[in-house]
Amino acid sequence: MNRKKIAAGNWKMHKTFTEGQGLVQEIRTMAETELMNNAQLLIFPPYIHLQSLAKQLEGSNIGIGAQNIHQNEQGAYTGEISAAMLTSIGIHYTLVGHSERRQYYNETNESCAAKIVTALKHNIVPVYCIGETLAEREANQHFSIVETQLGALKGLSNEGITICIIAYEPVWAIGTGVTASSAQANEMHIHIRKVIAGLFTENVAQGISILYGGSVKPENAKELFAQSDIDGALIGGAALASRDFINIAKSF
Ligand code: 13P
Repeated sequence: MNRKKIAAGNWKMHKTFTEGQGLVQEIRTMAETELMNNAQLLIFPPYIHLQSLAKQLEGSNIGIGAQNIHQNEQGAYTGEISAAMLTSIGIHYTLVGHSERRQYYNETNESCAAKIVTALKHNIVPVYCIGETLAEREANQHFSIVETQLGALKGLSNEGITICIIAYEPVWAIGTGVTASSAQANEMHIHIRKVIAGLFTENVAQGISILYGGSVKPENAKELFAQSDIDGALIGGAALASRDFINIAKSF
């Protein structure tokens, strides 16, 4: 199965307005002059950047998305952003359930399920983030934790799930400099695909792109991308430097 290859940059809470414009300019120029492998680039900057960076990226193949979305259509939810607000400025991707949001903002598999439904309803591609903590891996619960997290997808139609992207990010590998070995990551990606085949069909499971995230760098990207079931990366720290981000994307 020829799955889409994706290098996605999650900027988290980094870059001022002008810094963001500068980074995107560099990424666009490098992508247009150097990136010849059909990799799909996606960036997930903070909300305040979305409108201007989406404009800056017009006419390029680089996609742009939000780091979070609210599950409700509108209402008294101070500080939140709705799906309709995102599409009204041309945004059609969002992260859902990043481990930092689960850890610091009490996001649950249930709230993630609602966010995914809302995103799809508004023609926004959800990148659903899952992954176990170190304690869960040490207790040998990593496969069951990820399976439970994938339960958030259960109510989707085959058409809906086909639009989604999955990102496996073991929490112990995020921002720590410790990458899951390519074998550990691939083993989990195979498990994820098996769970999705059980929830939907084998065909759906084979078609869905599953990204790995957690200390991905130009130095380890090639080996990760060479694995059978790793279709790309969700990159944190290394996505804040244009050269590193592009070099990762060139590693497919
Ligand atoms: P790092 O690449 O900095 O480990 O972050 C990974 C991540 O959380 C991307 O969403």
